[in-house]
Amino acid sequence: MQKTKFNMEILDSCKLRELDAFIEAEDNPQGRIINILHEAQKLFSYLPQELQLYIARKINMPAAKINGIVSFYSFFSQEPSGKYTISVCMGTACFVKGADAVLQAFRRELQLEEDQKTSADGLFSLRDVRCIGACGLAPVVTINDRIFGHVKEADVKGIIEEYRELAKQEVAEVAQ
Ligand code: FES
Repeated sequence: MQKTKFNMEILDSCKLRELDAFIEAEDNPQGRIINILHEAQKLFSYLPQELQLYIARKINMPAAKINGIVSFYSFFSQEPSGKYTISVCMGTACFVKGADAVLQAFRRELQLEEDQKTSADGLFSLRDVRCIGACGLAPVVTINDRIFGHVKEADVKGIIEEYRELAKQEVAEVAQ
């Protein structure tokens, strides 16, 4: 884990109490670290470094080891999720039909730096996933619950614009 200034106040104390109870119910918390991290992510929706450090102290495990686990498994996230989660299928059928180019097009359109998963405006999170069982539509992208089939690189800009517009409309409706 890099040297970082931690602000433990970002952690909600009610959620921490729930997490404490979950950890205390475990006989061997170090051996059940994956479960504990799942529970922590369920409660906080992501695993900021402050939360990893909190867990490390709580179960007496090196913070670097916990960060290694969080970084290794793609189902753990160290960034808050965007309003829209874009999942690009990288299963075989999608990959051979150009899913990687589609994924890179989303990265470019959202101006994501290497390792960055959520756009700076907080609207979009991008991830790659394994086969979602819709291979006939390859390459497949999902945004939250909606499925897009036969997606081409050239479609990416329009898809993002549609969702930016949707987000704007929602903000306008709430403001009315
Ligand atoms: S490989 Fe993409 S849906 Fe199956």
